[in-house]
Amino acid sequence: MKRVSSHVSLASEAEINLDLSRLIIDRPQRFTLERKRSFDEQSWSELSHRNNDGFDSVLQSPAFPSGGFDSPFSIGTHFGGGGPHPLVNEAWEALRKSVVYFREQPVGTIAAVDHASEEVLNYDQVFVRDFVPSALAFLMNNETDIVKNFLLKTLHLQSSEKMVDRFKLGAGAMPASFKVDRNKNRNTETLVADFGESAIGRVAPVDSGFWWIILLRAYTKYTGDVSLSESPDCQKCMRLILNLCLSEGFDTFPTLLCTDGCSMIDRRMGIYGYPIEIQALFYMALRCALQMLKPEGEGKDFIEKIGQRLHALTYHMRNYFWLDFHQLNNIYRYKTEEYSHTAVNKFNVIPDSIPDWVFDFMPCRGGYFLGNVSPAMMDFRWFALGNCIAIVSSLATPEQSVAIMDLIEEKWDELVGEMPLKICYPALENHEWRIITGCDPKNTRWSYHNGGSWPVLLWLLTAACIKTGRPQMAKRAIELAESRLLKDGWPEYYDGKLGRFVGKQARKFQTWSIAGYLVARMMLEDPSTLMMISMEEDRPVKPTMRRSASWNA
Ligand code: GLC
Repeated sequence: MKRVSSHVSLASEAEINLDLSRLIIDRPQRFTLERKRSFDEQSWSELSHRNNDGFDSVLQSPAFPSGGFDSPFSIGTHFGGGGPHPLVNEAWEALRKSVVYFREQPVGTIAAVDHASEEVLNYDQVFVRDFVPSALAFLMNNETDIVKNFLLKTLHLQSSEKMVDRFKLGAGAMPASFKVDRNKNRNTETLVADFGESAIGRVAPVDSGFWWIILLRAYTKYTGDVSLSESPDCQKCMRLILNLCLSEGFDTFPTLLCTDGCSMIDRRMGIYGYPIEIQALFYMALRCALQMLKPEGEGKDFIEKIGQRLHALTYHMRNYFWLDFHQLNNIYRYKTEEYSHTAVNKFNVIPDSIPDWVFDFMPCRGGYFLGNVSPAMMDFRWFALGNCIAIVSSLATPEQSVAIMDLIEEKWDELVGEMPLKICYPALENHEWRIITGCDPKNTRWSYHNGGSWPVLLWLLTAACIKTGRPQMAKRAIELAESRLLKDGWPEYYDGKLGRFVGKQARKFQTWSIAGYLVARMMLEDPSTLMMISMEEDRPVKPTMRRSASWNA
């Protein structure tokens, strides 16, 4: 089989070589990483199912035409050199204003510092998912304490009692957010967490625990300090999180069954079932945990379970969630009501349920992971976070990663438009909106979670671009964001088909919009920083891939 994504990457490789050689400046590496054997040099087979991380893949990426991690390499502080972009200083200043202190120690960043907004709701809290880009920015700036404090504080919060009315939540649940409660009379400070018991809709965040594990690995990778991840507390915290998603039940699929609103999209948007965002984060967290869990005692069991789950999950996702022109055509011609092991249409998807827009949307070149797959249900919507995480975590094969980037390139107007990046595509409208969102006035078409454009996603797009050797694409997206973000006061999201309007109810000075921008810029300037968040392909899992249009000339 001739793989032809290569012609795509060849083109981009030439583009990158040209671009990067022009932009390389003599700047010492901002950090030196002591390569820890436990993190970088153990192969999958060496340690039961442990595997390599993204370190090598970053170096092998076309974004690194020469040299290794220790060689000074930079794309330049302002792409073309000449000092930092004026927005960078503004962004740092705004990010610092969002830092939350607990007993005089920085422990996180508040979701939004929007003084103009009358309704604070819970935007005055430190959200676990929102803190991730802040944490990456701080790490890249060598401010590691805030990240360590955050990891430790949330770890302790995990052990607090979590009740929704009279129902007790699982011990491993991590908070969606927390705040510092100050008692001025007694001069005391306490941390108060929300595990979903106060959240709108009362949903526990499934993504928080996964982000926590991913961040612990990023911290460990960046600092080279394994003492935190190897501490009994962190080992236990990981095991508790994993316990929630690796326990046996009635599942027939290795994917994780979730309710609506349990992730970044924290309101009803028809993503219940097996949403791609959670599946991709689940996969990534499992792989991160595999690198960090100690094989002694209880850890051994978990390592084994993770290995088995990853094997099945990778196969399931790469085969059943993948959609490209060829696969769409297959589904279009599916027979239904098939019984037994020979069934081709395993989930009994009725071709009539394929929405019309997909036929126009699907380019000949490119593909993506579906929003959701469950019995008789395929959510054909494109979700940005899940697809980008699939690339950085190597849930996507290299060919699939190239195809996802091809799709973004081909469908730039739809998926990026004038403000990167649309959270999902397309928007739900009319009857569908009424039924699926429950008439949610915040999630009207092309707004908020329903096709709104979220600047925070810029860092994930940039990471995916670097991993696949397409820095030019990231540069284009960053420049688009730069033309609006500061002027508009760092909004939480933008509305409209092209993302031209500041979101209807968007908070201003939304911290993850600010941090997401900084991370994107810093990563592009120093692509070696990608190693904090990127993972190498897990070689032992080799599902049989069907021939697909986007891989053929
Ligand atoms: C909104 C978003 C959620 C985010 C929170 C704080 O609820 O949907 O993803 O974590 O705001 O910014």
